[in-house]
Amino acid sequence: MKIIINSKENCAKIAAREYAALLTGKPNAVLGLATGSTPEELYKELIAMYNAGEISFKQVTSYNLDEYVGLTGEHPQSYRYFMDDKLFNHVDINKDNTHVPCGIDMTNEKAAQYDKEIEAAGGIDLQLLGVGNNGHIAFNEPGTALDGVTHVVELTQSTLEANKRFFDSIDDVPTHAVCMGIKTIMNARKIILMAYGKNKAEAMAKAIKGKIDLDVPASILQLHPDCTIYMDAEAASAL
Ligand code: F6R
Repeated sequence: MKIIINSKENCAKIAAREYAALLTGKPNAVLGLATGSTPEELYKELIAMYNAGEISFKQVTSYNLDEYVGLTGEHPQSYRYFMDDKLFNHVDINKDNTHVPCGIDMTNEKAAQYDKEIEAAGGIDLQLLGVGNNGHIAFNEPGTALDGVTHVVELTQSTLEANKRFFDSIDDVPTHAVCMGIKTIMNARKIILMAYGKNKAEAMAKAIKGKIDLDVPASILQLHPDCTIYMDAEAASAL
């Protein structure tokens, strides 16, 4: 694990350079993307680099980590909407090559097809992750099997609480999501995890220094051969 502790702005700038290096060497790279507050700064940097003519997404294929069950892509809180709004609409990516799991009529059987699609695309070159206050990666909540593929999950109370800020009330937060499994994530050739703020400090200390534990899904990243963690000082404060 490589650990970079810097301001959110600088983390985004440094990580964006990793994307530029990847896309320069492999313009048709397969990117694993994340939603939530954490990647927003990075997406702004990538858009700025695209506008400056430094990178192109023309040949990129992308697979997002997750989607809420029950929300269509038109719903402003759906992760498809988020990706279009925060990144895809601002760069030259071919939307047909962008994939966000479908949250409608989803079953575990259909969800597992997502892994097959990723495999057929050649596997993920660079997977971006945020982390939950409870140590989840994607929506793999504490206790999730470490060898799972894309599946439907029930969100924990702590995740519903954390995500209610995006909705009118906690009752509007979908209770289930479809999300990449930990095995799917670990199969990525390179992983970048970003964590900002005090709320993430305990989870990050356990993920980095603790034993590999089902109750802290992010701790599995200790076993990944090429994982870089970007944190601000607050998220690193319990290390
Ligand atoms: C989002 C995702 C989640 C978030 C995590 C942190 O696609 O898979 O694991 O990365 O819940 O969310 P934020 O960034 O909003 O703190």
